Amino acid sequence: MGNVTILVGAQWGDEGKGKWIDILADKVHIVARYQGGNNAGHTLYVNGQKVVLHQIPSGIFHPEKTSALSTGVVVNPHQLVEEMQKVRPFVELTPERLWLSARAHVISPWHIYLDSKKEQESTQPIGTTKRGIGPTYAEKANRTGLRLGDYVTKSRRDRWYQLMRESAPAFDAQWKVQAQDWEQFEAAAERLAPFVVDAEQKLRQAIKRGDQVLLEGAQGVLLDINHGTYPYVTSSETAAGGAFASLGFGPKFVNKIYGVAKAYVTRVGEGPFPTELKDEVGQHIAQVGKEFGATTGRPRRCGWLDAVALRYSADLCGYDGIIFNKMDILTGLQEIKVCVAYEHPELGRLDTFPWDLETLAACKPVYKTFAGWTEELPHGGRIHDLPRHARAYVEGVQEILGYPITMVGTGVNRQDALFA
Ligand code: IMP
Repeated sequence: MGNVTILVGAQWGDEGKGKWIDILADKVHIVARYQGGNNAGHTLYVNGQKVVLHQIPSGIFHPEKTSALSTGVVVNPHQLVEEMQKVRPFVELTPERLWLSARAHVISPWHIYLDSKKEQESTQPIGTTKRGIGPTYAEKANRTGLRLGDYVTKSRRDRWYQLMRESAPAFDAQWKVQAQDWEQFEAAAERLAPFVVDAEQKLRQAIKRGDQVLLEGAQGVLLDINHGTYPYVTSSETAAGGAFASLGFGPKFVNKIYGVAKAYVTRVGEGPFPTELKDEVGQHIAQVGKEFGATTGRPRRCGWLDAVALRYSADLCGYDGIIFNKMDILTGLQEIKVCVAYEHPELGRLDTFPWDLETLAACKPVYKTFAGWTEELPHGGRIHDLPRHARAYVEGVQEILGYPITMVGTGVNRQDALFA
């Protein structure tokens, strides 16, 4: 049995992973993020106070644990410094407790500029968070990227600026227009330097000596660059397999893989979404579920649970358990629907998630309807303690998926968690 647990978002992101990382962090020594950047947003309630984290793993609030950002992550230095300031009133931040990978790539004002420009000028915008994520990963693949370990050394940083001036004619002009952003970018280097280490080496050593390690995925599996709804995806590997590639360790060390799914579905940005509800039920879910982006404030599109998409996600990652989150948001609805298959005008009934968007966009959901419930859901205890109809919903979804639901979320607080 291994000692690494992986937790990923099972849908299109915003499933509420932060709370579950916080809960699972109790049992581990290290929490590490292995992909994505400050496009993510985890909302946590610490001592009753709301804190939104974008880059630092949600395990940071456990004072005796280590948090790490491994390679595979892209880092916005200025925002990370600001985030560290936000965390400091709650916990002491030391280089022993926060490891920043020297191999992680750096998001600069240039990348943010490129992301915004592309989104504004494109006839097919992706609806990105405009945080510079795509251009930073593109530069990495193009081998013109800036790694954190190089960024914190002035001479190496200067060498990268030189490289960009040679390869990107607009770089200098952008530099002049956004001088203040570049100043902030420069200033953050010194602040981050003490925390920059060979995080992968340290993590591998910890894994080998048997420390319990929790790997925190960002975004969601359906936004995976390889397996997601391309091109309406993010630029990293969000599925569980991304952890092996991004962090670099042997899959045999994995103990459990969990996927966090909402009891319904949300999506931000563009791209097909077969179960989207554009009616008052969708608006109700958005309002009660406070479905607005933690990073951009954008309203999220809401819809019924899509079991075809969730099974695809589960097959991709091999979930040992699905964490069924935000079930309380559905309380009071008369009936609840689950998409069990798609109906395509030419292809007929589809039970699997299509690879191409045109097919997916033409699919109409085939629903199974469950009775709603009006009782308040329990704040703690066992899944079995759910009111009758809520329990029937969980059991019905398990059966449709063929994967177990091992935890259920019934509110924003840490205690609002039910276990199998
Ligand atoms: P990017 O990651 O900013 O390039 O955006 C690409 C797509 O991923 C867009 O549809 C974003 O809305 C979406 N996305 C990125 N990060 C998150 C997240 O943390 N939650 C939900 N969607 C996200």
